[in-house]
Amino acid sequence: MAATNKTLSLMARGREFLGSETAILCGAMSWVSERNLVAAISNAGGFGVIACGAMTPELLDAEITATKALTEKPFGVNLITMHPMLFDLIDVCSSHGVGHVVLAGGIPPKGSVEAIKSGGAKVICFAPTLMLGKKLLRAGADALVIEGMEAGGHIGPVSTSVLAQEILPVLAEEHLVFVAGGIGRGEAMAGYLEMGAAGVQLGTRFACASESIAHPDFKKMFFRASARDAIASVQVDPRLPVIPVRAIRNKGTEAFTAKQREVALKLDAGEVDMGAAQLEIEHFWAGALRRAVIDGDVEGGSVMAGQSVGMVKEEEPVAQIMASLMEQSEAALTTRSAA
Ligand SMILES: Cc1cc2nc3c(=O)[nH]c(=O)nc-3n(C[C@H](O)[C@H](O)[C@H](O)COP(=O)(O)O)c2cc1C
Repeated sequence: MAATNKTLSLMARGREFLGSETAILCGAMSWVSERNLVAAISNAGGFGVIACGAMTPELLDAEITATKALTEKPFGVNLITMHPMLFDLIDVCSSHGVGHVVLAGGIPPKGSVEAIKSGGAKVICFAPTLMLGKKLLRAGADALVIEGMEAGGHIGPVSTSVLAQEILPVLAEEHLVFVAGGIGRGEAMAGYLEMGAAGVQLGTRFACASESIAHPDFKKMFFRASARDAIASVQVDPRLPVIPVRAIRNKGTEAFTAKQREVALKLDAGEVDMGAAQLEIEHFWAGALRRAVIDGDVEGGSVMAGQSVGMVKEEEPVAQIMASLMEQSEAALTTRSAA
């Protein structure tokens, strides 16, 4: 790897916190971020994160064991806050001595941050706003991720560039803030590091690496897509809350809109109550990502991808992606400091 001292130096706090060579996290991606990709990321000097998703404690236990067999480098585990067995999953992480737990999917329930820390791990939380970021830090979060709506998967309403401007100047000097969403090249990484970020988190750029177990048809869809193909799902009826998901446009994304209309009509006709209607909406996507990633059903399934998908053109080993990002960042920082 070429010398990347300027980038490494801007990443110093993030590297120390993560215990990795670079402060590049590969954000957890359900079905994609399993042992192979996670170990490959950590072995290449990044920080891999297992996506626990809906796994049972037994499955998570097996996944951590298998990941440890593939890497001696540190990696983290991403837990979804509304998982009904959250505290059992935390215990599994503690029993393995996992160093970092990322809490995703909403405000952490009472006692969860404390439980993770008493098990010896550091806690990383998603901060959707400055106010919530401050609150999470007060509640014990050791680091924050701010993720803009350019990202793949479930998204918030605000862009990465705006979140970064609102949050980094206020929090990044004293706290560790990692920036995610829409980062496809090292130049952007350098920009956020210069603004004070401790590091960055990427998902889309790594989802189709050689080491990723995603189905070849899922990968093909990524290589062909441009930024404008990665669209956010729309909410059709204000009564039916839908957390927007960014995915590549296909028959599944269209069917989702039609499904919402159908459920809204049933609600109007009094055929279902609000609870049942919302459940029907949620269930629609259950398994959709798995169908796309594992089975290769890229028309009916959910091909979650961020807007940086247009910069993913071919299958590359994780180490090569990581090296490009670091070199692009270094070149940008070198040009700027020479000007
Ligand atoms: C296919 C896919 C699945 C994802 N699944 C999850 C998930 O299960 N939990 C989570 O916290 N984030 C999930 N994400 C978000 C990533 O962890 C990461 O934050 C995001 O991809 C970063 O933005 P980018 O896609 O623009 O690089 C997912 C993203 C993708 C592309």
